[in-house]
Amino acid sequence: MSLLKLRSLQVSIGPVKAVRDVSLSLEAGECRALVGESGCGKSVTAMTLLGLMPNAAKISAEEWWFAGRDMTQIKEREWRQLQGNQIAMIFQNPMTALDPTQTIGAQIAEPLRIHKGLSRREAKMRAIALLERLAIANPAQRAEQYPFEFSGGMLQRAMIAMAVVCEPELLIADEPTTALDVTVQAEVLSLLQEMRESSGTAMLFITHDLGVVAEIADSVSVMYAGQTVESGSLHDVFSREAHPYTQALKRAVPSLENPKPLEAIAGTPPDLRQPPSGCGFAARCSKRMAICEESPPLMSCGEDHLARCWLWHKDHPERWREAEAVSLLGGKL
Ligand SMILES: Nc1ncnc2c1ncn2[C@@H]1O[C@H](COP(=O)(O)OP(=O)(O)OP(=O)(O)O)[C@@H](O)[C@H]1O
Ligand code: SF4
Ligand SMILES: [Mg+2]
Repeated sequence: MSLLKLRSLQVSIGPVKAVRDVSLSLEAGECRALVGESGCGKSVTAMTLLGLMPNAAKISAEEWWFAGRDMTQIKEREWRQLQGNQIAMIFQNPMTALDPTQTIGAQIAEPLRIHKGLSRREAKMRAIALLERLAIANPAQRAEQYPFEFSGGMLQRAMIAMAVVCEPELLIADEPTTALDVTVQAEVLSLLQEMRESSGTAMLFITHDLGVVAEIADSVSVMYAGQTVESGSLHDVFSREAHPYTQALKRAVPSLENPKPLEAIAGTPPDLRQPPSGCGFAARCSKRMAICEESPPLMSCGEDHLARCWLWHKDHPERWREAEAVSLLGGKL
């Protein structure tokens, strides 16, 4: 059984339909990258998986399992046992995630005291050891300092320490290395890899950096306008990309082997207060067909490879032929 299985997650925040249909699965020890343009709902998905969305958010899912537990039935008290223990998160912005009134050492040690029952002294020793592993010089002195005394890169590492200290089963990392310089970024990635290997931690890794994806991920989910539009193995999604959005994303990435001008994706994503009723990518898609006015479900385009695009519609050949005919007749933009 998968560690995490999420089918058709929907999250609305007031009038914004931030997540409209996200499906994801993760096995123990797997690293899945979650990629997609700014505002497509990656952080909202992550915060929902950690039970951190405000009460005003409306959340529903057809299916949502974590570690054998039906998360659609979970109580507030059970969430508090999971958070920071079995599921932890490295937040996108360390400044808002850390408490300015507590020392860094105390904040890293806290989950160990709450969830693992360690004494204050033991927890602090572990926190210091972890800071050292994250290449922070003078970790014992640093542990006594407050967040304002840390640089941005060091804060990010402190937050990573807080997230991994209990060796969670699922670690959600929201742009964990964006603020770091390349050398520290490489150290952080190798620490995360090491933790995956030693404790079988699964990771949902949110990033804009497709180079990092290629380095760390086993599988990839691509999001667009609140929906997962493609998912599969790293190789499938980046070498046999099936969705026109993924194809455009890939064309927009510079390549050292094959340098060419970047191709920006023309247009902007839809307004999530009034998302389109058909395919969310239709307004920017050069392969649009008449049938694209209907919302496509995720369709199989290979083994464990899914794309939310009518081009991959196979189960209903009549409809597929109709779509193809429209396309041939000039349905293209
Ligand atoms: N607390 C909130 N209240 C209202 N709307 C929100 C809130 N948080 C996110 N949104 C909206 O939900 C949508 C998805 O936002 P989200 O932060 O998940 O995007 P993202 O994919 O993480 O983007 P980025 O790559 O810039 O971090 C956006 O339209 C955003 O404006
Ligand atoms: S469903 Fe249609 S508009 Fe949407 S990505 Fe596929 S071809 Fe393009
Ligand atoms: Mg985000």
